Amino acid sequence: MRIDVLTLFPAMFSAYLGESILQRAQTAGLIALHVHNIRDYAAGKHRVTDEPPYGGGGGMVLKPEPIFAAVDAIVAGGDAGRPKVVLLAPQGRRLTHAVAAELAAEPWLLFLCGRYEGVDERVRELLVVDELSIGDYVLTGGELAALVVIDALARHVPGVLGDEHAAERDSFADGLLEGPHYTRPEIFRGRAVPDVLRSGHAARIQRWRREQALRRTWQRRPELLLAADLDEADRLFLLTLAREMEPYDGTNG
Ligand code: ADE
Repeated sequence: MRIDVLTLFPAMFSAYLGESILQRAQTAGLIALHVHNIRDYAAGKHRVTDEPPYGGGGGMVLKPEPIFAAVDAIVAGGDAGRPKVVLLAPQGRRLTHAVAAELAAEPWLLFLCGRYEGVDERVRELLVVDELSIGDYVLTGGELAALVVIDALARHVPGVLGDEHAAERDSFADGLLEGPHYTRPEIFRGRAVPDVLRSGHAARIQRWRREQALRRTWQRRPELLLAADLDEADRLFLLTLAREMEPYDGTNG
């Protein structure tokens, strides 16, 4: 798939996208990433990209012309078709595991990173087809949010994770949080790896992992259980948990 990013701060992307899994995904040709500076498409000697809002109120608003010029140039330089233009903004729909998976199926995405008070509304009306927020807080711009969205969706692009089923095991994939993981050493600072994980008994390990996931979800995000895919054994286990456990308060999970 192809991903373009429109930002006033392209350098913010190179460090993160140039390392680890996202770098490998690009080298392997699984994701083609192009980051563009909005300022390059602004007119005039000063290449102005933002101006004060009509009606006053303070702050600055990104002007529409450079953004439209950038999108036109990107479309003209592409193979065919148009990207799905996604604005990062606190007013957008909330990013979830399901939204990340849905975006990963798009052939071409263009992420538009807002700054300051936001973007001129005509950009929303005429260009943007989806608007995403990464949470109910305000960042200084959409750049970090775009990186978060790109990272989360890349995990769903076939071949990006070495293990093709890794994304299916993620927290949230089955509606539950993941349970604990252990590696060597067997005992660390007096804490031992649970016996069952060293038992070699695949079915028992699988059941233990499932119960740990249920336990953690019950403690930390009980509302997720309402939509999770649970069988009879899961429900019985949750009943025993409900009898024994205090709600999570940040210290007892
Ligand atoms: N830009 C500023 N805050 C944001 C948020 N929470 N999500 C996405 N883009 C943003």
